[in-house]
Amino acid sequence: MKLILIAVLVCVELIHASSDCPKIVSRSRWGARSPKEAQAITVPVEYVIIHHSVTPTCLDEDACSKRLISIQNYHMDQKNFSDIGYNFMIGGDAKVYEGVGWNKQGTHTKGWNSKSIGIGFIGNFSTEAPEKKQLSVAKKLIRCGVDLGEIGENYKLLGARSLRPTDSPGDALYKEIQNWKNFVRTP
Ligand SMILES: *[C@@H]1O[C@H](CO)[C@@H](O)[C@H](O)[C@H]1NC(C)=O
Ligand SMILES: *[C@@H]1O[C@H](CO)[C@@H](O)[C@H](O)[C@H]1NC(C)=O
Repeated sequence: MKLILIAVLVCVELIHASSDCPKIVSRSRWGARSPKEAQAITVPVEYVIIHHSVTPTCLDEDACSKRLISIQNYHMDQKNFSDIGYNFMIGGDAKVYEGVGWNKQGTHTKGWNSKSIGIGFIGNFSTEAPEKKQLSVAKKLIRCGVDLGEIGENYKLLGARSLRPTDSPGDALYKEIQNWKNFVRTP
């Protein structure tokens, strides 16, 4: 009886842990190119950095996939990054898209890439913040990262503008993330 109870509790715990992670559209699903090289990062990372892409937004998986392909091409061919710059991106369809993913170094914030996860919202959020469902899925992704041990429990959340000369993540989104858990203005 006791054993059954423990087994049930373990199962509930497992279901709980996995249900905290949003579905992630994988690289192969959106059609990513192979990276030139991939550099691992030491986890858990201490920082989560929020960006916007300053591109048009996208409202379904097909359009968002095309957008990611174009961002990856720009980063690899024009900027000579080894891969798409962000660890993850959030589409206007409120889906999470895998960039370089967990455990790998992005190219989003010079000097901070080896100790952070960079999340890029697809769109320009200078005057209007992303929709609530986009914000929710991003927060869920961060919690998931903490649960997986990819992000430290006492992580600091920053807007890209605090770390390099940029407007990113846009005034409206920057205002929004100030209400998020663990937000700091300066590291
Ligand atoms: C592009 O990056 C690679 C690897 O970091 C480097 O060896 C190469 O010189 C760079 N090319 C240009 C044009 O900057
Ligand atoms: C982003 O939006 C702001 C406000 O609408 C605008 O001034 C800016 O030019 C936009 N940026 C780009 C690159 O389109």
